[in-house]
Amino acid sequence: MKILGIETSCDETSVSVVQDGAKVLTLVTATSLEMHKKTRGIIPENAARKQVEYMIPVLQEALSNQDVDAVAVTENPGLIGSLVVGVETAKALSFALDKPLHLISHLMGHIYSLWLDKNRKEQPKFPFVVLLVSGGHTELYLVKSHQQINFLGGTRDDAVGECFDKVARSLELGYPGGPAIDAEASKIFNSQFSIYFALRNTRKVCNKNTFKLPKPMITSKDCEFSFSGLKTAVHRITLSKKLNNDEVTQLAFEFRETAVEILISKLLFASKMNQTKNIAVVGGVAANALLRQRLEELRSTYTVFLPHLKYTGDNGAMIASNAYFNNYSK
Ligand code: KG4
Ligand code: ZN
Repeated sequence: MKILGIETSCDETSVSVVQDGAKVLTLVTATSLEMHKKTRGIIPENAARKQVEYMIPVLQEALSNQDVDAVAVTENPGLIGSLVVGVETAKALSFALDKPLHLISHLMGHIYSLWLDKNRKEQPKFPFVVLLVSGGHTELYLVKSHQQINFLGGTRDDAVGECFDKVARSLELGYPGGPAIDAEASKIFNSQFSIYFALRNTRKVCNKNTFKLPKPMITSKDCEFSFSGLKTAVHRITLSKKLNNDEVTQLAFEFRETAVEILISKLLFASKMNQTKNIAVVGGVAANALLRQRLEELRSTYTVFLPHLKYTGDNGAMIASNAYFNNYSK
């Protein structure tokens, strides 16, 4: 069974054909990211106009000679102007090809990135707890089956991806902030590593918390998050003094450590509360190098499911996969 998946919730125009929910036959993604770098963030009107421009060429390339049995599209949440381009294209295709149309939640779609290009052994085992971390969302779900996905809790204010983006702006590291902070913070890891080896007889390691960043809600006995205090704390530091390059790197490093510590601690809390050792992380922030490293370290005690790096961000394949498992798998 081949499903055409269309994702246009934000600044990516992404179209994919996926077989039986897991095998990605084609995936073509155009992004207007470069344009948004100039404005240091997304202006919805600009993103929507780029969706209009990219849709037909992306569709033509992804669909090339593929017969499809159904059409799936992201319905919500997202920027309305961008969403409309995908939804109207999908409706027209469904009508013209006389194939069923499936409207998919972008958030549920991210969960299905866990199935993409994975064989049966690597695919998630029910029940599992999944942490969805993106630019707009930070949420925990208990996935009992394809039909039963229970919301456990989410952020009370900023999403963690947004926090990465705003902190990068305060530190003048550019947009999008997640990859920029990841790269900046990794400089310390590398140099710390060599300092550690040089001085290992004295066991001297660098200080991990010179800026005393807060860890909001880390000990609260629930599945909720708060990131606005952490974002503001970094911003206040940048206002209080002019940071030199080393200090910017150190602050990016400490921010990443703090954010990842909060995410892991809440994920493990949710896993304990729901009595499952099956854990997963999806969404754009699941590309974070430190987060992935921490999850790898947990593999001795937990069964960890992670999407391939190329499927962490928004893509049409996860939308097609979700439509398959919701409607066609036994
Ligand atoms: O899922 P996604 O592609 O789009 C939304 O649905 O929002 O997530 C985008 C978010 C952005 O905030 C971006 O900065 C963040 O994911 N991100 C990262 C990394 N790569 C992307 N955050 C931390 N570390 C990364 N390596
Ligand atoms: Zn997303």
